[in-house]
Amino acid sequence: MDLFEYQARDVFEKHGVPVLAGAVATTPEQARAAAETIGARSGGVTVVKAQVKTGGRGKAGGVKVAKTADEAQQHAEAILGMDIKGHTVHQVMIAQGAQIAEEYYFSVLLDRTNRTYLAMCSVEGGMDIEQLAVERPEALAKVAVDPNVGIDTAKAQEIVDAAGFDAETGAKIVPVLEKLWVVYRDEDATLVEVNPLVKTDDGDIVALDGKVTLDENADFRHPDHLALEDKAAADPLEAAAKEKDLNYVKLDGNVGIIGNGAGLVMSTLDVVAYAGESVGSKPANFLDIGGGASAEVMANGLGIILGDEQVKAVFVNVFGGITACDEVARGIVGALDTLGDAATKPLVVRLDGNNVEEGRRILAERDHPLVTIEETMDGAAAKAAELAAQAN
Ligand SMILES: Nc1ncnc2c1ncn2[C@@H]1O[C@H](COP(=O)(O)OP(=O)(O)O)[C@@H](O)[C@H]1O
Ligand SMILES: [Mg+2]
Repeated sequence: MDLFEYQARDVFEKHGVPVLAGAVATTPEQARAAAETIGARSGGVTVVKAQVKTGGRGKAGGVKVAKTADEAQQHAEAILGMDIKGHTVHQVMIAQGAQIAEEYYFSVLLDRTNRTYLAMCSVEGGMDIEQLAVERPEALAKVAVDPNVGIDTAKAQEIVDAAGFDAETGAKIVPVLEKLWVVYRDEDATLVEVNPLVKTDDGDIVALDGKVTLDENADFRHPDHLALEDKAAADPLEAAAKEKDLNYVKLDGNVGIIGNGAGLVMSTLDVVAYAGESVGSKPANFLDIGGGASAEVMANGLGIILGDEQVKAVFVNVFGGITACDEVARGIVGALDTLGDAATKPLVVRLDGNNVEEGRRILAERDHPLVTIEETMDGAAAKAAELAAQAN
């Protein structure tokens, strides 16, 4: 889960990383009120910043300096509702204005390729770090971080030396990097990025922009992370699936896919994409009901898949291992009966494995007009693709 900048700021503050005052606002009036309080700390100067989960806000016009509360209100009016790289701005952060002397870059992230953590640091931070990384990679120091040790004083020193800081600035940055490491470790993050990390005219080091990605696999030990979720942005079906502990992913085709087990679901996507090529059908989504799924899980899954308006036909592909095919069949029949007339989309079902005979018997007995039983995965994929294409 990616955090908004204002959330990252709060998390930084919690762990003692130096940040400036900031408050989030959803209306120009709120922005004005926040600017009055926050601006008092910096000669009336604040910065109005679009809160969207994408970089490059500055270049897109989403970061504006305001000298007065009036100006902050005007900037908020212009920035709220703005579209930045496909993200609509619903909130702005009013940040205390900094007198920037120099802008640096720092990040620590999970380096999957090398199976370790990686710290990156540069004395040339600011808005064009991606360009810097491509054009002058030597200006971006990369230092591996042992997960068991983390960024202690020695490692932080190694990082600032590699980045080429002068001794005086480096000495000020070392403790900040150690604190940013604590954020990374204690919050179970996979990314903590500060761009820019600045030196102010007074010589203070401050994290002026923060990007934090939290590892959702660690949510169980962070009950407070739940409150950081952007509920407004969540796809309602994805949210419903999550609530029922189902793995559902939205795609943009017209064939809904339900399977059991990640491997089978992935190969189902492939066969549907392949079979759909000639008729113009593609997977609309996929949902993994997992191993040992009960009739209830199957019914829940079907409810979610059928709730996707783009779905024109559904392919249920189950190989019964721990999951028994008769349970799956009962789930399908139960879901269709519950939906009654609301069920209008054709279902192609391919069952195999554990208790397949009983599963097929249950479906055949119910003989629902929307259900087609197919024996093979390829046959079922072709049928589902064809039915979806016909419905378009
Ligand atoms: N609180 C602030 N005070 C002064 N300048 C700021 C402040 N916040 C951001 N800036 C300036 O705006 C630039 C872009 O802001 P930033 O928060 O990094 O957004 P983004 O990375 O999305 O463009 C920064 O590099 C910095 O020069
Ligand atoms: Mg930035």
